[in-house]
Amino acid sequence: MVEGLVRLATASGEAPPFVADPTCGGGAFLLAALDRLVQLGIDPLDAVRRVGGVDLDPAAVEVSRWSVLLWLARTRHEAVASGRAEQLVTIEVGDALVDDPLGWPEQRLVVGNPPFASPLKRGVVPPSAASYRSRRSDLLGPYADIAAAHLLRAVETSGPGSTVALVQPQSILASRDTEPLRAHLDEIAPLQALWAAREPLFDAGVRACAPVLAVGANPGPDVLLARGAEVARAGTRGPQRWSAHGADALGAPRLPRMSGRLGDLVTATAGFRDEHYGLVGCCREAEPGERAGNGVDSARLVTVGAVDPLTVSWGRKPFRFGGADWTRPMVDRDGLSAKVAGWFDRQLAPKVLLATQTKLLEPVVDRLGDLMPATPLIAVHAEPDDLDRVAAVLLAPPVVLWAWRRWFGTALTVDAVKLAARQVSDLPLPRDEAAWSAAAETVAAVPGDGELGMAWDAALDVAAIMTEAYGASPDVLRWWRNRLKPRPVDPASLARSGARSSGAAALGS
Ligand SMILES: C[S@@+](CC[C@H](N)C(=O)[O-])C[C@H]1O[C@@H](n2cnc3c(N)ncnc32)[C@H](O)[C@@H]1O
Repeated sequence: MVEGLVRLATASGEAPPFVADPTCGGGAFLLAALDRLVQLGIDPLDAVRRVGGVDLDPAAVEVSRWSVLLWLARTRHEAVASGRAEQLVTIEVGDALVDDPLGWPEQRLVVGNPPFASPLKRGVVPPSAASYRSRRSDLLGPYADIAAAHLLRAVETSGPGSTVALVQPQSILASRDTEPLRAHLDEIAPLQALWAAREPLFDAGVRACAPVLAVGANPGPDVLLARGAEVARAGTRGPQRWSAHGADALGAPRLPRMSGRLGDLVTATAGFRDEHYGLVGCCREAEPGERAGNGVDSARLVTVGAVDPLTVSWGRKPFRFGGADWTRPMVDRDGLSAKVAGWFDRQLAPKVLLATQTKLLEPVVDRLGDLMPATPLIAVHAEPDDLDRVAAVLLAPPVVLWAWRRWFGTALTVDAVKLAARQVSDLPLPRDEAAWSAAAETVAAVPGDGELGMAWDAALDVAAIMTEAYGASPDVLRWWRNRLKPRPVDPASLARSGARSSGAAALGS
């Protein structure tokens, strides 16, 4: 990865006047830079003059210095034997967020892997990073990772003509707390290339990326994309959001232009802590034979785990809620605080429930209006006549791809699509009204708590029709299908087909 990133940052083929790693650790990036400088025609001794590093840790600095000298020794350079080389190595103890780098030339390539630490995990942010962030709170929100502070600092200490390529957590591509930073960088150091990895490459398990920024340059027509442990070339794309570049680096198929917003049809909400704990306190298993939610005094509780595309598994398979397993959980309005009861009443209407943080968006239409969504399930309210159309939009592969590209890097896993309730309104609408209506009719034919297999088949049909409704290519449908779980086998349908054929044949079908 280190070699690949250095190559990506020097893709122009010109040797940078200087290569700096402000958090150099054991010097992996400096060694790769030395190799690359030689490859670009620089003499080994001159290459050693052209690299520099800083680290807080004196042991790391010592390791880096020796690594560079050993690298030069391998070239049998006489400067090593004479002791002259030691004076040339500019690797020092320092704090990259405080100290000014050692009189390094202003025009430079800054490359490296700064520490990652999210302020969401309290206690991990060192004082210099905390004070840097509070000074730059105009660009770095309270939850911005400190790696983003290192990125900003590197850009601000580098002169025009420099390149900055620092490894970052993928959340930098779309998180709200780094949005002002991205906008600022687009102005002063536009994105030239972006590398992203699907696999976790570091112990921390955080998915990484590396924006390659051209300080003081005009934005180029295209951004070079690369992916994987080998930093393999993955194509180019024109200017767009950083998050979309991240998703494209990982192979997202192309989307057509889309216009119109789902917000014209819906309002979307999700409960918070109060609602969650309120519902936990008033939840019970339904009595045998009890009507499923009378829709006024009690409601069937569902969680993200109980929602699949176009169906809920309430009453059919157990799911977790509030630290316990439930099969037929009911929530009684009695006992809810006035605030939560008000929220409860507002949910009791026909609506679409939407599970996110999964590989697809998974909507189900609650036609009776008696399902109570547990946080973070999103309730999407619309006119009753529009609910099937709304569910079709949420199932549409181009919409899932659009959302993945838009908020790439913000979900818990690299392939998951994370959508907050307020973002549902931003989703695009299809162009082809007739195809959209046909997809809505397919949704309408599925009962809200129908068999899993039947819902799965219908979801697939809707996905195919909606791909056309958006004018997207079959690649987008294929991309979506690759994310779909295998077709579930319903115990009921298995029993039926078992009467006709052997169990194995039924499973095979
Ligand atoms: C993820 S490691 C980098 C590893 C390095 N790329 C290598 O090849 O060994 C991060 C390094 O940043 C250093 N570091 C953390 N905060 C720093 C700061 N504010 N200034 C300079 N170095 C810092 C740590 O001591 C650590 O060596």
